[in-house]
Amino acid sequence: MRRGILLATATALVACKSSSTQGSGPGTGSGSAVPPTADAVPPTAPGGLPGFAQLASVATVPAAIARMSATDPATLAWYLFLYLNWPALPGQRGAPDPAGKLGTTPTVWQTWKEVHEVYLGGGARPLPWDDGGPVGPPLLSQGEIDGTTLSDVNGNPITYTVAMNQGAFEYLVSRQLYGWGGQAALRQAGAAPVAFPTTAMEVKASWKILDPVADQDRLDHYLVAQARLVPDGGGPATTVAVGLTGLHVTSKALPSWVWITFEQIENPTTTGVPLRLPVDAATAAVNARFQQALAGTPFAYYQANGVQTEATVGGQPTLLANTQIETRFQTSSSCLTCHALASVSTGARARLDFFTMQAGNLVGPTGAPPTAPFGPGPDQFTALDFVWSMREARR
Ligand code: HEC
Repeated sequence: MRRGILLATATALVACKSSSTQGSGPGTGSGSAVPPTADAVPPTAPGGLPGFAQLASVATVPAAIARMSATDPATLAWYLFLYLNWPALPGQRGAPDPAGKLGTTPTVWQTWKEVHEVYLGGGARPLPWDDGGPVGPPLLSQGEIDGTTLSDVNGNPITYTVAMNQGAFEYLVSRQLYGWGGQAALRQAGAAPVAFPTTAMEVKASWKILDPVADQDRLDHYLVAQARLVPDGGGPATTVAVGLTGLHVTSKALPSWVWITFEQIENPTTTGVPLRLPVDAATAAVNARFQQALAGTPFAYYQANGVQTEATVGGQPTLLANTQIETRFQTSSSCLTCHALASVSTGARARLDFFTMQAGNLVGPTGAPPTAPFGPGPDQFTALDFVWSMREARR
């Protein structure tokens, strides 16, 4: 099932775990081992789509997410993807409309709080979950975490949004982690560790500007949004039509979270970036089944690249990447390992680094997360429970 690939560093790596060895690897320990039980959700019938109730019975129940991440990770990925892309009830955040029709927007995750609504200037307290008026168009940001920008073949930048569900948001607010002050307080002796509730979920989305002429043959191949884009040199935001090219999803159903990524299948053509990690056979089969069942909707043009629940399997680092989000370091992209480095310090450096330079290339951290320099000392770090966007908190 697993295919090893070789890096320049001669480290054998395992791409996109999809196996039944959940919890047995050295990366997470037995604490995250969730034995399959008789009430695990049955697989969908070939050609059929799970209905809303079936999607919700997994996506809203952390224990079900945890179980299915062990028994059928690829189907879990699609259940979460379809639940999160279910049409939202108007006027509320994060609430699906059970009677809605797939393909209608905004979707559930599009009504979540975006990071610019959470990490405010001066570390101010964000407005309550459902407050702040109607959900506005997403505010796109440019640039990948390695500082580079990916352009599509039309010459337009790929852009990003990051958003969180109510469980994650309420926890951040309760611990005042939306501002620098609350995070610095984590460094005081006796402060409780950051521990999001099992219901917490976050997404990171990548978007392509849709060109009505150059993209005319594929306009209906995307989840489409009207979004705000601040021009490169600054100035007022303009409104652009964008198509979803990638969606990272993470759920706190496991102690080290469940890491999932989807992408639009034409990305290699529209951005010239190939997917460098193989999609394992089990995931590819599930992708084909869902794509067929979703014919006639934009979601037929998406695939799960894989699911990561452990940093290593059989002693080998696991990898997972998205061509639009980890473009240039796909072969050293371990969601879980890099996110384990999300941290804060009140010493000389506020955050741990997550890239190293090897032979002129930026390389991401892979394998079992380090235990140092986490600790109480002045130049040591406190873990932020895998949530990297907390680095956006301001003073
Ligand atoms: C080398 C480090 C690194 C890797 C690898 C990585 N991420 Fe992230 N991720 C980040 C950083 C930094 C952010 C903060 C948001 C930003 O600046 O874009 C982030 C943000 C996110 C978010 C928004 C929630 C949060 O933590 O703030 C999600 C969800 C996410 N990543 C999922 C994934 C998934 C899924 C993968 C693997 C396919 C992955 N990431 C790989 C560094 C990484």
